[in-house]
Amino acid sequence: MDSPFDVLGLDPDADESEIVRAYRERVKEVHPDQGGTVSEFRAVQTAYERLQDGYDPDDPSSVHEDFDQQADDPPQYDEHFVEYLNYEVLDDFGWELTDDDLFEKAARADLDRVDYGEILVEPHESILEAAEKHGFAWPFACRGGACSNCAIALIDGEVPPPNSHVLPPELIDSGIRLSCITTPVTKDAQIVYNVKHLPGVNELLLPASRFKQAKSD
Ligand code: FES
Repeated sequence: MDSPFDVLGLDPDADESEIVRAYRERVKEVHPDQGGTVSEFRAVQTAYERLQDGYDPDDPSSVHEDFDQQADDPPQYDEHFVEYLNYEVLDDFGWELTDDDLFEKAARADLDRVDYGEILVEPHESILEAAEKHGFAWPFACRGGACSNCAIALIDGEVPPPNSHVLPPELIDSGIRLSCITTPVTKDAQIVYNVKHLPGVNELLLPASRFKQAKSD
């Protein structure tokens, strides 16, 4: 297997910001919407994951074995129930993401199903895929953890950040996740979708126009 530095066109001493920048550039270049292939796209994602896992050029096999093991881990549950709320609704009602009773208020507000409800997410299915399967058109662009258009805010439950993404630690700590590459590990979770314009998230946005099949209002 090629070195992840080679795949991303980086020197082995590249620092974290160079790695993130290279990943975001490469993922655009090889995205199937841009003329790349699925295998190229996956290779770039895997390279980035290996670097995030602490790839050591002097011991290239160790991290990859861990990565393979991680991918084989069974899911904790056979299905996950995700209660969702559209961020635009918060504006309309004057609610905040930090409101303790946010979802209780949403449940009482007689909202349209597109704005509030619950979806079932199957193992190995991203939250975005599950939403689309239920007929919803949530924002996305790259579908690969690089553009932030699909950002969601985790209110309750556990949705671990995947290895391959561009979110900085402070956004992860505040509950921001990417719906295109994340799946809950708890049986139940509450998320607010459509949060790509929140401060910090909007600075990471890549224009949806770069991706042929993007859905981004
Ligand atoms: S990060 Fe681009 S669609 Fe999810």
